[in-house]
Amino acid sequence: MEIRPFAIERFYERWEFRAELMLSSSDCESLSVSDLLALEPDAEERLRVLDLGYTEVPGSLELRTAVAGRYERAQPQDVLTLAAAEEGIFIAYHALLGPGDHAVVEAPAYGSAIDVARSTGAEVSLWRRHHEDGWAYDLEELESLLRADTRLIYVNSPHNPTGSQMSRAAFERLVEIARGRSIILFSDEVYRGLEHDPADRLPPASDLYERAISLNSVSKAYGLPGLRIGWLASRDPALIDRVRELKLYTTICSSAPSELLVALALRHGDALVERSRRLVVSNLPLLDAFLDRRHDLFDWVRPKAGPIGFPRVAGAFDVQAWCEETAMNAGVLLLPGAVYEEPRHVRFGFGRASLPQALERLDAHLG
Ligand SMILES: Cc1ncc(COP(=O)(O)O)c(C=O)c1O
Repeated sequence: MEIRPFAIERFYERWEFRAELMLSSSDCESLSVSDLLALEPDAEERLRVLDLGYTEVPGSLELRTAVAGRYERAQPQDVLTLAAAEEGIFIAYHALLGPGDHAVVEAPAYGSAIDVARSTGAEVSLWRRHHEDGWAYDLEELESLLRADTRLIYVNSPHNPTGSQMSRAAFERLVEIARGRSIILFSDEVYRGLEHDPADRLPPASDLYERAISLNSVSKAYGLPGLRIGWLASRDPALIDRVRELKLYTTICSSAPSELLVALALRHGDALVERSRRLVVSNLPLLDAFLDRRHDLFDWVRPKAGPIGFPRVAGAFDVQAWCEETAMNAGVLLLPGAVYEEPRHVRFGFGRASLPQALERLDAHLG
């Protein structure tokens, strides 16, 4: 298998634990184990006596029941749990694509969405959106990319890195296009619930379309990335079966303590997601004000959903070198757009409680 280095994660591997203030993260303020254990009276005792044997391959029934409860039309058997969304991207693509297939992937995108698809040997076309068009979703262009051998379309809304959100009408049209050609719709919904206006929330793709796979995890909207649990939901049992076969080669089953804690968290899922959404919505005006003050340097399409935005940077300097210098000298970590092959952009994250402090530090550093 040939695969390019994962530029986003390489950058964070190098800087995330060296810079004091994170100003680009795609996750929201996280919770502690004791925050979770306080959610139900018997939770602490259940964790203490938990047997640390292997768990069920598709995920414990308790966890799959809690996941299914987050969908209108999913049953526990429609769910496959994962070691977070990243495992889902890897095993779903490798289970469903190969040489001779064609896939369409939205771009810019979280790197593995593009590079793991390519690593299967499938031919990949990018459905590219543009800052200049307000990151608009051009569905006619998407249709023009489809071919007789197109097997899968990957989309991610709310979107990393632009914070854009597909409208309900566009999403329904996308489903219609996929259904008309029986194309698998691989819908990465890890930021679902973080729409700044809850009226913009889309249904999970797997509730709308029988050949959709909805990908989610507790890493973003739920504030629990350290538990490393995600899941796929699909009403097509053949799709779930094929992906499960590959999970036997990656993790076999998930971590037992994490499964217990995530089932607990999902039973209180609305409250946890709302906690993150409120922080995102209260931080956004602070970032807005900062970008307004610095409009000579940054120009952004204001995000509509999720904890990140992707301004364009003015000037001819090297944005990646500037991000590294800022991390080193100001202790504030931004993510250079070069990791998305958008070298004139920079990613800001606004889902953390330390945002005011990080902005103040960046302001002082810029002078
Ligand atoms: C769109 C998208 N999908 C998947 C992932 C991976 O998430 P996880 O931490 O659950 O593996 C990320 C992480 O940033 C992401 O932004």
